[in-house]
Amino acid sequence: MLEKLNEIEKTALQSLKSITDAAALEAWRVANLGRSSALMAVFSEFGKLSKEEKPVVGAAANRVKVKLEAEFESQSQAVKNAALAKSLAEEKLDVTLPGRTKFIGRLHPSTQQLRRVLDILAEMGFQVYTSREVETDEYNFQLLNFPPDHPARDMQDTFFIKTDVETDNPMLMRTHTSPGQIHAMRQFAKTNPQDPPPIRIALPGMCFRYEQITARSEVQFNQVEGLAVGKNITFADLKGTIADFVRRMFGEGARLRFRASYFPFTEPSAEVDVECFVCGGKGCQVCKNSGWLEILGCGMVHPVVLQNGGYDPKIYSGFAWGMGPERQLMLRNKINDIRYFWGNDVRFLEQF
Ligand code: DAH
Repeated sequence: MLEKLNEIEKTALQSLKSITDAAALEAWRVANLGRSSALMAVFSEFGKLSKEEKPVVGAAANRVKVKLEAEFESQSQAVKNAALAKSLAEEKLDVTLPGRTKFIGRLHPSTQQLRRVLDILAEMGFQVYTSREVETDEYNFQLLNFPPDHPARDMQDTFFIKTDVETDNPMLMRTHTSPGQIHAMRQFAKTNPQDPPPIRIALPGMCFRYEQITARSEVQFNQVEGLAVGKNITFADLKGTIADFVRRMFGEGARLRFRASYFPFTEPSAEVDVECFVCGGKGCQVCKNSGWLEILGCGMVHPVVLQNGGYDPKIYSGFAWGMGPERQLMLRNKINDIRYFWGNDVRFLEQF
């Protein structure tokens, strides 16, 4: 009997050692400690033993039972620990992975440049004045000294919308920010019609032209118009203001030149070029080998325009300019296609 118990213990412990999962453990428990196990059979045959054998076999059988139960418990624990370790290893959180950056929005490059321009002009004493994008033919052209059928209208192909039934005036999308000059002068003049106050304003905003969209022309773009009106304002003031602006925007060393030009609302008129910052004036693709880049149109406000704004041209004079923030960015960053600005391609927009 004792030998049999030793045999039971030995084989049971041997098979227990190699068990690695919960199902096999349970099967082992049923086979070795369950009701129909060999060990339990020893207990049920207990009655057949002699008086002398009983205590010896009883003690031995109990010892085997306790031993098997204890070993079963510890192997159960070992299996559980192994399973836990395995799942920890599999679901390991790798804190060395770089985090995913959140997508952060930003201002449109045109808006950024518009703000740079307005910041500089604010430092120079120009106040921002905004006016409407939908205009009448009267404000966009007539009051700016473009008579009907004047050939200069061809310079600005126009989106006409409809005709204002009350005034019989064609409505249109403004082709430039210049009509804001009339709105502003009239509003300032209203405050003191006998002696209108001086004006120093910047007029930013979107303009629209009925054009074929190409790498060089878009149907919409921003402009920043400048207007200064007062007594004794001369072309020298215009030159000084533009030169100061160019140096603040493009750097202390930036060279510029004035070229005679024509606009119906200014007399005399000029266009301003800055020395090409790509080639430093030597001539390259960007400046088309001229060494210069055109950045704005300007001039002394035409007497007719002053008059239309409520400022007596015999007493007042003024200067004005118009420039394009998109154009400035294109020149600055060698952007060769204006369509990028409204193409909504984040690969372009993210670079600013
Ligand atoms: N309005 C002109 C344009 O869109 C730009 C311009 C030129 C504005 C000369 C001015 C100016 O105020 O004086 O082409």
